[in-house]
Amino acid sequence: MALENKPGITDSAELARAEERISKQKAAELFETGYLDKLKAGSFAALAEIHRYLFGEIYEFAGKLRTVNIAKGSFRFAPVMYLDAALKSVEQMPQSTFEEIIAKYVEMNVAHPFREGNGRSTRIWLDCILKQELGVVVDWSRVDKEDYLLAMERSPIRDTEIRLLLKEALTDQIHDREVYMKGIDASYRYEGYVVYKTSEISGN
Ligand SMILES: Nc1ncnc2c1ncn2[C@@H]1O[C@H](COP(=O)(O)OP(=O)(O)O)[C@@H](O)[C@H]1O
Ligand SMILES: [Mg+2]
Repeated sequence: MALENKPGITDSAELARAEERISKQKAAELFETGYLDKLKAGSFAALAEIHRYLFGEIYEFAGKLRTVNIAKGSFRFAPVMYLDAALKSVEQMPQSTFEEIIAKYVEMNVAHPFREGNGRSTRIWLDCILKQELGVVVDWSRVDKEDYLLAMERSPIRDTEIRLLLKEALTDQIHDREVYMKGIDASYRYEGYVVYKTSEISGN
């Protein structure tokens, strides 16, 4: 079953196509209007704004914190009851070196604040930080998608893989639209989430 959505699409493949088309168009707008540069890099407000912008026409929950616990593969993202606190502490993480920025990105991914669309919005959020702090962005066309997902799955335990992968793909072509747009490819996407109850965490 497809996630509840504003256009009222019930077929999940059709929803995926509509979501991809609209979010790409919105991402391009975000880039071209210079709106991204006005956001406070590294803040949760910036990420929420990016998410709201990309998915506002599709989901009611765009830009809003999720209200259910979610897991992907064997990994459970931050439980809803700790989400607020997690976001506050991620926001306060330093971001003056590449290593610090990746550590922060990894923690934001562990928080996974939204019901859907965390990957795309958080990659744009990462690029914003890299651009404002270091004058570089990731050239996502040089990041193999399989390698990326494996490194992200691994990242909550060790961020070495994702750090190496993204470091090799850094570029100072911060005004290049193609470089930026590659990060919004939905084909980075993996399977959907498993929603679980808080009571399942401790098994009681
Ligand atoms: N098992 C995992 N553990 C940690 N992070 C993951 C895992 N699987 C995927 N990810 C991260 O989550 C992102 C997918 O989140 P999702 O909310 O589906 O966003 P989108 O719909 O934009 O792809 C991936 O791009 C990756 O960064
Ligand atoms: Mg997804």
